[in-house]
Amino acid sequence: MTELQRRDNSSILEVRNLTVAYGTKIAVDNVNLEIRHGEIFGLLGPNGAGKTSILSSIEALIKPRSGQVLIEGIDIIDNSQRVKAMIGVQLQATSFQSELTIRQIVRLYAGLYGVKLTLQRINERLEETGILNEAGKPFKDLSGGQQQRLALLIAVIHNPVLLLLDEPTSGLDPQSRRQLWRRIEHIRQSGGSILLTTHSMEEAQTVCDRVAIIDHGKLLTCDTPRHLIEKHKDDIRVQKVAHGDVTLEDVFIGLTGSEIRD
Ligand SMILES: Nc1ncnc2c1ncn2[C@@H]1O[C@H](COP(=O)(O)OP(=O)(O)OP(=O)(O)O)[C@@H](O)[C@H]1O
Ligand SMILES: [Mg+2]
Repeated sequence: MTELQRRDNSSILEVRNLTVAYGTKIAVDNVNLEIRHGEIFGLLGPNGAGKTSILSSIEALIKPRSGQVLIEGIDIIDNSQRVKAMIGVQLQATSFQSELTIRQIVRLYAGLYGVKLTLQRINERLEETGILNEAGKPFKDLSGGQQQRLALLIAVIHNPVLLLLDEPTSGLDPQSRRQLWRRIEHIRQSGGSILLTTHSMEEAQTVCDRVAIIDHGKLLTCDTPRHLIEKHKDDIRVQKVAHGDVTLEDVFIGLTGSEIRD
């Protein structure tokens, strides 16, 4: 498929009536989402809102109570192997084999995905990610931010069409955060689509084409950041928390409330 064809309005990912429960706790409550080809889509929500549970269902790591997830129109439950090759995943907390060196880890995962990488190509990838100087170190000796950069490198090692990133920039310094934003944009330019979660309104506004706000497992609203502000700026709950011009954060707090979550 050419990039032009990808950038039409068809969806790479459809989440239909997704409900996830852990025992009696409903973590995701009948959520519908659609991510288009070439889109960077952000999931926003307070702690415990259900973001990671939605991503875990898309990755088929957990079995939803009900609903359907389609990637390129393919049901992930019926075709889990085929779909796994199409998605790349960076989890909220990623851990690799602690004693292996970074270069060994990259080689290992390339092998697992059946991707042939020469030593030169591995070094190029490490350099792009800014961890070439760390290549000979064991994973356990990397800083938190370096670990996250490695996790992103591994997530895209097989050129997935859909990338799922769970809070990819939490814990990164401003330089690394901006570098990651550039990398995400680059992945989109190369034909990928990205679904990420974030607690940063700045990130949502800078990087995401559209965002959804979820709370208590329910999807509250979904649109471009600009349209979300436009749509909700006169809501009394939003007005109450705004100081001057309404921001995306005002909309977020207005719709999800001010109390701290468990
Ligand atoms: N394995 C589990 N067993 C029981 N309850 C769980 C489990 N995983 C998540 N939950 C609960 O489901 C709800 C949603 O959790 P989830 O991790 O999806 O939230 P989140 O939006 O990713 O939050 P955060 O911003 O803190 O990462 C929470 O109430 C959480 O306590
Ligand atoms: Mg989470």
